[in-house]
Amino acid sequence: MEQQKRYGHFDDQHREYVITNPQTPWPWINYLGNEDFFSLISNTAGGYSFYKDAKFRRITRYRYNNVPMDNGGRYFYLKDGDTVWNPGWKPCKTPLDFYECRHGMSYTRITGRKNGVEASVLFFVPLKKWAEVQKLTLTNQSQETKTLKLFSFEEWCLWNAATDMENFQRNFSTGEVEIEGSTIYHKTEYRERRNHYAFYHVNAPIQGFDTDRETFVGLYNEFANPDAVMEGKPRNSHAHGWSPIASHYIEVTLAPGESKDFVFILGYIENEQDKKFSALQVINKEKAHALIAELDTTEKVDKAFAELCEYWDALLNIYKVKTGNDKLDRMVNIWNQYQCMVTFNFSRSASFFESGVGRGMGFRDSNQDLVGFVHQIPPRARQRIIDIASTQFPDGGCYHQYQPLTKRGNNDIGGGFNDDPCWLIFGTVAYIKETGDFSILDEMVPFDNQPGSEVTLFEHLKISMDHVIKNLGPHMLPLIGRADWNDCLNLNCFSWDPNESFQTTENVSEGTKAESLMIAGLFVVTGKDYVALCKKLANGQRSTVNGQWSMVNVQCDFAEEANRMQQAVDAMIEAVKKHGWDGEWYLRAYDFYGRKIGSNECEEAKIFIESQGWCTMAEIGAEDGMVAKSLDSCKKYLECEHGMVLNNPAFTKYIYEYGEISSYPEGYKENAGIFCHNNPWVIIGECIAGRGNDAWSHYAKILPSYVEEKYQTLHKVEPYVNCQMVAGKDAFRPGEGKNSWLTGTAAWMWYTVSEFILGIKPDYDGIRIDPCLPETATDYTVCRKFREAEYEITIHPNGVQKGVKAITLDGQPIEGTVIPYSVGKHVVEVVM
Ligand code: BGC
Ligand code: NOJ
Repeated sequence: MEQQKRYGHFDDQHREYVITNPQTPWPWINYLGNEDFFSLISNTAGGYSFYKDAKFRRITRYRYNNVPMDNGGRYFYLKDGDTVWNPGWKPCKTPLDFYECRHGMSYTRITGRKNGVEASVLFFVPLKKWAEVQKLTLTNQSQETKTLKLFSFEEWCLWNAATDMENFQRNFSTGEVEIEGSTIYHKTEYRERRNHYAFYHVNAPIQGFDTDRETFVGLYNEFANPDAVMEGKPRNSHAHGWSPIASHYIEVTLAPGESKDFVFILGYIENEQDKKFSALQVINKEKAHALIAELDTTEKVDKAFAELCEYWDALLNIYKVKTGNDKLDRMVNIWNQYQCMVTFNFSRSASFFESGVGRGMGFRDSNQDLVGFVHQIPPRARQRIIDIASTQFPDGGCYHQYQPLTKRGNNDIGGGFNDDPCWLIFGTVAYIKETGDFSILDEMVPFDNQPGSEVTLFEHLKISMDHVIKNLGPHMLPLIGRADWNDCLNLNCFSWDPNESFQTTENVSEGTKAESLMIAGLFVVTGKDYVALCKKLANGQRSTVNGQWSMVNVQCDFAEEANRMQQAVDAMIEAVKKHGWDGEWYLRAYDFYGRKIGSNECEEAKIFIESQGWCTMAEIGAEDGMVAKSLDSCKKYLECEHGMVLNNPAFTKYIYEYGEISSYPEGYKENAGIFCHNNPWVIIGECIAGRGNDAWSHYAKILPSYVEEKYQTLHKVEPYVNCQMVAGKDAFRPGEGKNSWLTGTAAWMWYTVSEFILGIKPDYDGIRIDPCLPETATDYTVCRKFREAEYEITIHPNGVQKGVKAITLDGQPIEGTVIPYSVGKHVVEVVM
């Protein structure tokens, strides 16, 4: 057998993934930026930058679906005699003597060596700055003096990434730039309505530049062999229309052993309307000068980088586990938490599978993402909840997504998904349990962003619950609407027209009997949470963040509300037991006509994962053996080598009544792919049922560090993060991963391992300890910062899968499994 190729490895000490061969099976990317200014960067420096919104404020241009793949990025060309090369190998692809890419926490360092010269570039976005910094270090490792010609390269996007790739009759006439010293300014459309511009600066004198793409590259050339670089001669071109770019030219002489740093800054500036210009058509550059001055030396850049590293130290210090199992520890302590932060920042908008123009911040997606980062940055989670809730309608329904720049909801990817409202409860409860900040419920939040329509956030939660109750079908189960979590189970759409998207086509609500067991389970889980919250409030529980505070805006008899909703939850449980059980597993849904979906009676797709996950998490019918049977059925029918598939058997033909799910070839995406997002639902179901061995074996199957070998070739995508989908057992190529990075899998994997497997669960009054482990688990310690406290919790599993026997807090035994919250440092011992 051919020896397995390896493209990289983990470096846990530095929290990096080290790529040692640039020709990875797919570009392996990283994300730069944590607020406002963001960049995507591949292991060969491909990718792009944007401000807040990948659609409306795209700063540099990127061509998806290009040949070659990942063509375009921030490129440094070095001409050393006749040899032209790039530190990241691309685009010239000159074979390097050494190549390494280190993807770290919000930074990437790419190093290349050729003919005795080393070029190392550190890419990052400094905290609170609207700029990507590229610190290039050139070192002469040879015995002779080297004279090098250095060309930088960035290509501007004409701001709106969508029209940038379609409206060429206009685009080719609008491009404008200014050149001032070593700074190239991109001011396209600034003369009219835009009050923002971008710039590309280097902190050294330049001996030339280019700003017009065709002049620099040559119409019949490629990024791999631009005319100016090949000839070693910049053209000093000034772009007017066509495609503006920014390229600096610098001549560098290095004595043997000598090293020089160059700081390149890609910045973004906004000016006030009346301060846009310093003269006719001349942009006011004051803010650009100021930003440059903050970053224009190696010392300043190193300081900014140290601050970024400290920021990540602090974030990753909040939950730290030590199990002695490196594969588990590195995912929990580093990569899983990192991916959660990326999904928080980007939702599903910009990756190498999401083009940044199609999707904004999803209502359900963002609420789920919240459980992945709320422990790290609660204030931003709070703001996110308010932003999301502000796109809700008075009847509890909501826009499915909103644009990050405007925070306004839109119907671009459909609306009327009946699971959406429940997720607001899921997100809000997670926030309050983490922070103890009940005051968020008192915030006045509008409907559809309309000023004057504000009600309390608590009211939004209430109408979210009511939205489900008011939309029940013939079996008293929730009507599915356009779809539930599974966007592709389109039971009310009926499309024969290939020109329409399943996501936006008609959603027939008149006369439908389409009901969802997934929403039923979700309603029971979030409903129980809502009831518990109301009971807390009925008992007079208030914010522990500010002792002075009381709920002034909320008008509610909480005890009565808890009672009302408990009845609704109980009724739902009964409805599922009566109409949602198929004998060995939970049904998935009823279709428009009231026929069963996900039943043994069906020809294909007899069993689906989503309802097994949610109904087992909700423990519906546990006393009658339903939960255990359902979990066993997942193992029997859904599990395969790479994880659990979404449905089984896969659909082999298009079913007009089911929609997009049956449009995919067998084993891909929602048609029997391993949709990693929903595997944790079953794993949590296993944990709640106390089946630690099963929970662990499902978890390890999709844990990147456990299957890193597979990622080197079969999975193709980045080995350090989860992807949305791994091709299922029925696929042409089972095991191939796709859609990496931006997936709810990140938050669900985190929630699963941190709270259900390792068992450290934030609760209103403290931390609940309730692990569920494989029998083989050994003693482990979790250091958990929680509000103003810090707990060092050591668990002694003693071969037990579930069940805490005794807990001591600072040496004193406590009753029950909740460590009561109190400020300060505490030591906790847990015996199972
Ligand atoms: C995909 C879903 C996705 C949806 C978003 C569908 O084509 O299969 O996974 O959620 O588009 O609009
Ligand atoms: C991806 C979407 O982002 C998410 O909202 C949806 O639930 C899943 N696909 C399943 O269809």
